[in-house]
Amino acid sequence: MKILVVGSGGREHAITWRLAQDETKHELFCAPGNAGTAALAENLAIGAEDVAAITEWAAANRPDLVVVGPEAPLCKGLADSLTAVGVKVFGPVQAGARMEGSKAFAKEVMKAAGVPTGLAETFTDAAAAKAALPKFGLPVVIKADGLAAGKGVIIAETREEAEAAIDDMLVGGRFGAAGAEVLVEEFLEGEECSILALVDGEHAVLLPSSQDHKRVFDGDKGPNTGGMGAYSPAPVVTADRLPFIRDTIILPVVRELKRRGIVYRGVLYAGLMVNNLPDGRKAASGSDVNVVEFNARFGDPETEAVLPRIGGDFAKTLLACAEGTLKDEDVVVSPSCAATVIVASGGYPGSYAKGKVMSGLDEAAKVPGAIVFHCGTKAVEGQVLTAGGRVLSVTGLGGTLREAVDTAYRAVSCISFEGAFYRRDIAHRAFERDGL
Ligand code: AMP
Ligand code: GLY
Repeated sequence: MKILVVGSGGREHAITWRLAQDETKHELFCAPGNAGTAALAENLAIGAEDVAAITEWAAANRPDLVVVGPEAPLCKGLADSLTAVGVKVFGPVQAGARMEGSKAFAKEVMKAAGVPTGLAETFTDAAAAKAALPKFGLPVVIKADGLAAGKGVIIAETREEAEAAIDDMLVGGRFGAAGAEVLVEEFLEGEECSILALVDGEHAVLLPSSQDHKRVFDGDKGPNTGGMGAYSPAPVVTADRLPFIRDTIILPVVRELKRRGIVYRGVLYAGLMVNNLPDGRKAASGSDVNVVEFNARFGDPETEAVLPRIGGDFAKTLLACAEGTLKDEDVVVSPSCAATVIVASGGYPGSYAKGKVMSGLDEAAKVPGAIVFHCGTKAVEGQVLTAGGRVLSVTGLGGTLREAVDTAYRAVSCISFEGAFYRRDIAHRAFERDGL
């Protein structure tokens, strides 16, 4: 198949890599890709958000499938635009991508579909939002409606903090249009996990569970990041919970969207809070598993941990989603475990330097069971340079999670560049759970 992957991060390298593992060989392109995808595909000089240029390329070059990595082009209508020129696309139409692009829309769909989630109310008026605060107790969550680069969620411990966050968004215009509407939401307690579901408009197949590590430092300390690592499976998602998640969360959303005329094809990513509190306290929904958020795409770095565990013909599976013919047996899961460690630039998630020369990538890739995915890199005159905050995503595979983690860190230890750092406690929740 001729396939274009849109995006330039670790997620897109992992998608491209997984397509390249198929028995049938494909002709692969990335727009724009990175130094890692360049080894597997032809990188095109087209930005991931340039809907017009991607559509023009696809109309002229007629790929069998376009796989869209990031949310921004989906929210801008890339899938609609490709469909209009007769090109098949893995990724939802603009109206479906609103499940990620508008938290108020996602809540409204969940409510209509009876999906368990935190109680929430939506406001455009600061005084009304503040007046509603007592109903939610403390802590309380204040969220900007739109995309705010992961910064639009404030967990307020006090009423003053909550009021300040409301003022910041609704009066101060902190996130511009994305914060012109805010949600006041029930604080959910428990352990978070990610479920990536492949959806073909009607059917859904869940990929193995995973958990990411959002904070920058060990012990979940420091500011939030795009993700510092991930592992799969996440033991908090016990086997008995998977049918519940599919039947009570994913499928009702897909059906509710379809009822509204939105045929959702691509990944529906559910960020879930699993309530495992010792005293059995429950969220207002009464459910043990509640939706924190939906995303309209593969997670990053979850994809780098999940996709190496998927067997079968991946291109065929993604095409089946695009064509509305997905079947359970299209997704074959390997029993192995995976752990992914992000190697980041010093200073990230604040400001950081770019253009640092990297070494040890070949040695790392030779560690048995390790895969080195590039996130923010650039090849210049035979050298690989850093080009982002998150630079590499190093995945280890193993029969146990411990083996997977050890393999990932063995590979990471081969790599060096000025300022490089990484978390040393990936998968700690799984190990603590097992008393390890
Ligand atoms: P979101 O952008 O909605 O994914 O939120 C970002 C992060 O904020 C989530 O991954 C959670 O860690 C946290 N969060 C969001 N909503 C809630 C909630 N209702 N209760 C507890 N934590 C939340
Ligand atoms: N790892 C979180 C995300 O992809 O949104």
